[in-house]
Amino acid sequence: MLTTSEQKGLIDAYQRHINYLRISITDHCNLQCLYCVPSGAVQKVSHESILRYEEILRLAAVGVQLGITKLRVTGGEPFVRKGCCGFLEKLSRIKGLSDISLTTNGILLQQHLPRLYEIGIRRLNISLDTLDPDKYSKITGVNAFDRVWEAILSALEIGFSPVKINVVALNGINDDELKALANLTFKLPVHVRFIEQMPFGSRYTQNQSALLARQIRQQIETIAPLLPVTRQENDGPARRFRFEDAAGEIGLITAVSRHFCSECNRLRLTADGRIRTCLLSNKTTDIKTALRNGATDEELAGIFLAAVADKPRQHNIDSFRSSELNRMVSIGG
Ligand code: GTP
Ligand code: 5AD
Repeated sequence: MLTTSEQKGLIDAYQRHINYLRISITDHCNLQCLYCVPSGAVQKVSHESILRYEEILRLAAVGVQLGITKLRVTGGEPFVRKGCCGFLEKLSRIKGLSDISLTTNGILLQQHLPRLYEIGIRRLNISLDTLDPDKYSKITGVNAFDRVWEAILSALEIGFSPVKINVVALNGINDDELKALANLTFKLPVHVRFIEQMPFGSRYTQNQSALLARQIRQQIETIAPLLPVTRQENDGPARRFRFEDAAGEIGLITAVSRHFCSECNRLRLTADGRIRTCLLSNKTTDIKTALRNGATDEELAGIFLAAVADKPRQHNIDSFRSSELNRMVSIGG
């Protein structure tokens, strides 16, 4: 039986309705992208600290009772955790969810595509920052461009839609490829999203200035005019555009130059069982201890509500120090 405040759902102190939960199922990743993995030692999370799939499913179900309708599964890299598809299948059976999607680096994706489609997942966000295999190895530490590219083509062929390609814009690394990446949208029905680099990863400590959305836009507008695409319900932070007659879309994610906190409808559940209400804040709320101590659904709902009530109005990326939050890799974007 839900209390009155539980029935109202997840509304924070600034009247934002939180209906989107991003679940990180593992802090492990099979890549070491230089904008993501820090240069120093990375704390390992012990196996027992990681939520079991049944535990995640229970928390997801409580979240859905509180009004979560949209779920994204992230990592680390979700497919490095054994049984990911079985978990997704159970997740998809939770009533009340309108949308389940995945953010993946694509390395292990190909083999799982048919099952994902069978489960009913249609939306995939795949990280790919370059079209040059050598550069791919340099950025990620792994020689696997072809595997990711083939997985993207197979996903399109099977009928996943939208397939979004996440490109972190990196001055001095892929700034000469922005047009080539944008040009993909003429032939392929992909959404190519250029993301401003946030202050994480070993590269950040090298004092590289971020390549901002307005510079990216200037470059790709030399191809053809960018026509705005109307926002739809459930849209994420990307500003959407397309070229006339293109098969796909362009997205600009102004993670640095223009925050989208006033529209933020997100909550994150970390692999080790904490609720994180802001990507760029270190503040998290432990929900695992209560879960493992036999909390009822109502008690767990109370923990969600308290965490949401404390969601910061906005982040301050300028005063943010990446060292405080050393692992974007474990948060999954
Ligand atoms: P969809 O629109 O549903 O596809 O979601 P999304 O765009 O949030 O998904 P994705 O996981 O691909 O996120 C894209 C990128 O946006 C992330 O990798 C981050 O760089 C950035 N981002 C996502 N959420 C936030 C957020 O809450 N705050 C900030 N500053 N950036 C975010
Ligand atoms: N800045 C912006 N986006 C990042 N991602 C990882 N690190 C950063 C960063 N420093 C994004 C990747 C990936 C998602 C999981 O997180 O593009 O698609």
